[in-house]
Amino acid sequence: MLDHLKPLPADKILMLTGLFRADERTTKIDLGVGVYKDANGHTPIMRAVKAAEKQLWETEDTKTYTSLPGDAGFHNAMADLVLGDSVDRARLSCCATPGGTGAIHNVCETIKMANPNATIWVSNPTWGNHLSIMKHLGIPFQTYDYFDEDTCAIDFDGMMASLQNVQAGDVVLLHGCCHNPTGANLNRTQWNEVANLIQEKSAMPFIDIAYQGFGDGLDEDAYGARLLAGKFDEMMIAASCSKNFGVYRERTGIVLAVSANADDAKITQATLAHMNRQNFSFPPDHGARLVTMVLSDPALRADWEAELEDVRSGMLVLRQKLADALRDEIGSDRFGFITEHRGMFSRLGLTLEQVLELRETHAIYMVDDSRINIAGLNETNVPIIAKAVASVIR
Ligand code: LMR
Repeated sequence: MLDHLKPLPADKILMLTGLFRADERTTKIDLGVGVYKDANGHTPIMRAVKAAEKQLWETEDTKTYTSLPGDAGFHNAMADLVLGDSVDRARLSCCATPGGTGAIHNVCETIKMANPNATIWVSNPTWGNHLSIMKHLGIPFQTYDYFDEDTCAIDFDGMMASLQNVQAGDVVLLHGCCHNPTGANLNRTQWNEVANLIQEKSAMPFIDIAYQGFGDGLDEDAYGARLLAGKFDEMMIAASCSKNFGVYRERTGIVLAVSANADDAKITQATLAHMNRQNFSFPPDHGARLVTMVLSDPALRADWEAELEDVRSGMLVLRQKLADALRDEIGSDRFGFITEHRGMFSRLGLTLEQVLELRETHAIYMVDDSRINIAGLNETNVPIIAKAVASVIR
């Protein structure tokens, strides 16, 4: 039986983490996997999350099952955070999942169940696991142009031109904010134009929002999700709490689905619960409960928002420092786009050969497509990285 299995292609991001760990050079720099790190390279537990965890330890008196779609308090708190008052709650179905990835998986399966012929349109490039999940589930997908390799900005004309090919009943996957892997994001005018086009095509939007609060702010980063929720009869959202609450290993995510009316929403709700039951039964509760406590308690929430804002503004400072250091090294503004990008990532526009040279010669680890994790930068390594990048592009 098991000898029939074939080796699978390695996940490029996770493979990089393994290579980094195995590298014995003490000077090595990790700009790989999308995990927030402070100036000491440590991924802290956020203060409010730790405080909620202490409270929970004191007060939690059972570990019995929650309900199949997770806890209603979590649903409400996350619907508020992501969607605000953009949609009538009677049309909303919510389901807790193991992380944002679990939510993406369940959204894809729900789409396949509703319409096996629907094509999901994804940006080129997109997070590698989007493609991998769709392949795994046998869901047809196509790509739309998104990134201009020369300017490292959005290729908006290309995006609109390729979305002209979307068919009625298809699904368009959009990154809610902080595009992974490029860091290049739609502005408000572009969101509006994209929304109009998808509506014209009678397609359904699917938003993956994994970095809310890391880009321009909590509300600003939800602009696209809220715009679309207010405009479309139907849409689906996969939201992750891994990054903005720092609860990576607790696997905390949610599906938010907008249906055309309250009756449809009941069936969507039951379908989402069914997906949970088939895939893993009850969703993990610990992280979801911490998130609910943080969002519902005014003091915890204020502290969380303050810490998240420090994280966000710290990354903007690092972006500026890297762009400045590169300008000083190479004498041009070629990398000025780093300060325009938002979120945890920027794709630098280096060739694979240059990325590999940085890895092998300089012990600087970035993903093969030259995506860097901005949170891997610090005062000490920025000049080293700038010198190394200058040397490989010469
Ligand atoms: C990333 O893109 O690095 C993160 O989303 C982590 C992951 O699971 O790939």
